[in-house]
Amino acid sequence: MKLTPKIDEKIQKLLCDKNFVFDLMNAFGSPLNIIFPENIKQNINNFQEIFKKHRIVGHIYYAHKCNKSSAIAKEALYCGINIDVASLEELKHALSIGFVGNHIEATGPKNNEFIILGLRHNLLFNVDNLLELETIINFHKKIIKKEKTKILIRLNDFSSESEKFINRQSRFGISKKELSIFFQMVLDNQDILDFVGFSFHLDTVNIKEKIIAIENIILLFDKAYELGLNPSRINIGGGFKLNYLASSKEWDASISELKEAILNNDSDITWNHASFGLRVDNGILKGNLNLSNYYENNVKEKVLDEILSSKSSKFQNRMIGEILSENMIELMIEPGRSLLDQVGINITKIVYTKRSLQGDLLIGLDMNRTNLLIGEQEMLVDPILISKEEQEESATIGCYLLGNLCLESDLIFKHKIFFDTIPKVGDLLVFINTAGYFMDFNESKTIMQNIARKIVLTNENNKFNCYLDELYEPLKK
Ligand SMILES: Cc1ncc(COP(=O)(O)O)c(C=O)c1O
Repeated sequence: MKLTPKIDEKIQKLLCDKNFVFDLMNAFGSPLNIIFPENIKQNINNFQEIFKKHRIVGHIYYAHKCNKSSAIAKEALYCGINIDVASLEELKHALSIGFVGNHIEATGPKNNEFIILGLRHNLLFNVDNLLELETIINFHKKIIKKEKTKILIRLNDFSSESEKFINRQSRFGISKKELSIFFQMVLDNQDILDFVGFSFHLDTVNIKEKIIAIENIILLFDKAYELGLNPSRINIGGGFKLNYLASSKEWDASISELKEAILNNDSDITWNHASFGLRVDNGILKGNLNLSNYYENNVKEKVLDEILSSKSSKFQNRMIGEILSENMIELMIEPGRSLLDQVGINITKIVYTKRSLQGDLLIGLDMNRTNLLIGEQEMLVDPILISKEEQEESATIGCYLLGNLCLESDLIFKHKIFFDTIPKVGDLLVFINTAGYFMDFNESKTIMQNIARKIVLTNENNKFNCYLDELYEPLKK
C-alpha cells in the first residue's frame, strides 16, 4: 500500500528544513500540532468566487468544531468571515478573539448557559428543536434587550417523488411535521423573534441528497411567506469533501490491495485481520468498506458549484443557484474541514521499535490514537518519515504505528504503513493535512499523556516565523 499525501508548498518547504523541524520538536515536545493559518485564505476565496459566479449573496460560517486553534479562528475573522460555534466554550473563545455577536451562529445542542450568553450577544440561533426555541423565548423575555433574536430552524426529514434515497433518521433538527408548530411559535412571538430562514447539515457527502433538501426548503419559503413571515436565508451546512492524496492510482491500487488481503484472510496488511466492515462469505467479499475516500476529484468549492449548477426537475429544470438568486434567498454555508485544507500537520517522535510475532516492525510513538483520529475513522494517508541522518534506501519495510496508551487498541492505524528507509528511534513522523478534525477533535489526556501543543508557522520573505497558537494575531503581521 502506498498513499502519498498531497502537500502544499509551504509545508513541503518546512519538511525540507530538517534541522528546524527537529528544533521545533526539541522546543515544544511531541506530539506537536503545527498550524499554517494563512492557508485558509485561498480556501475562503474559492468559495466566495462560487457565490459570485452564481450571483448569490453568500455567507461563510467557519465551523469552529473542527479545530480548537485560536490562530485559525483569528485568521477566519481577519479574512472577514463568520463563525459557527457549537458549545458555550466555543462561543466564549470566539468572543474572546474578537468575533462580535452578529457574525456568530450557534449550532448544535445548547444548554441554558450557551443560550443565555448567545442571547446577550445577539447571536444567530440555529434552532435544533421546539423545546430549545421555547427556552430561547423564555430567556429572551427575561433579558432587557431591544434587538429581536434571529433564528434559523434546522430541518431533518426531506423527501423526493422522483429520486430514491435512504432517508436516515437524524438526531438533529425537527421534521417537517413539526413545522406548523414552529411557525405558530414564531407568529406568537414576532415581537421578539426574527425568523431568518431554514437550515440543514447532512451527515453525507452525497450531493443529490443535499439538492433534495434544498428543493424541499425552497418550497417551504412559500409556506412561510403565506403566513406573513419573511425568511431570507437557506443554510446548507458543511460537508464539502477534501482530497488528501497525491495520486488516484495509488488510492485505487491500495484499496484493491486491502480488499484482496481481506478476501484472502491474509493478515499481512492489517492488524489482527482488521477488515473495515467487510467480511468474506463463500469466497465473496460482503458488507460495506467503512473507510472514507481520501482521494477525491470533486472537492471543496467545486462541490458547492456542482450543487448550485444542478438543474432542478422540481423547478422547470432551472439551476439551484439561479432559483436562489432570483428569489433573493441568501446562502449560508458552514464549512469546517474544507476551509482547513493544508492548514495543519501533526508531528511525533519515534520512541522505540520492536518486532511483532509475525515479524513486522512495530514503531512506538510519543503520541496516541486520540491525537490523530476522529471517532473510529482510519486515516489512509501515509506519514512522512524525517530522519536526522541521511538514510540509504532499503527494501520497502512494512510497519505498524503504536500509540503511548496502555490499550491494545491504541494503534495509530490498523493498516500497515510502508517506508523506503528503516525508521529509527529519534526519527520524526509527520502526518499531513490533519487540521480538519484529525488533529484535536478526539484528543484526550488519558493516563495523563500530553495532548499536543499547537504552534503557528507563517512564511515571510522565504523564512518561517513561529508563534504559540494563542499568541498569533494576523493584524500584527
Ligand atoms: C451543523 C454542522 N455544520 C457544519 C459542520 C462542518 O462540517 P464539515 O467540517 O464537514 O464541513 C458540522 C460538522 O459536524 C456540523 O455538524
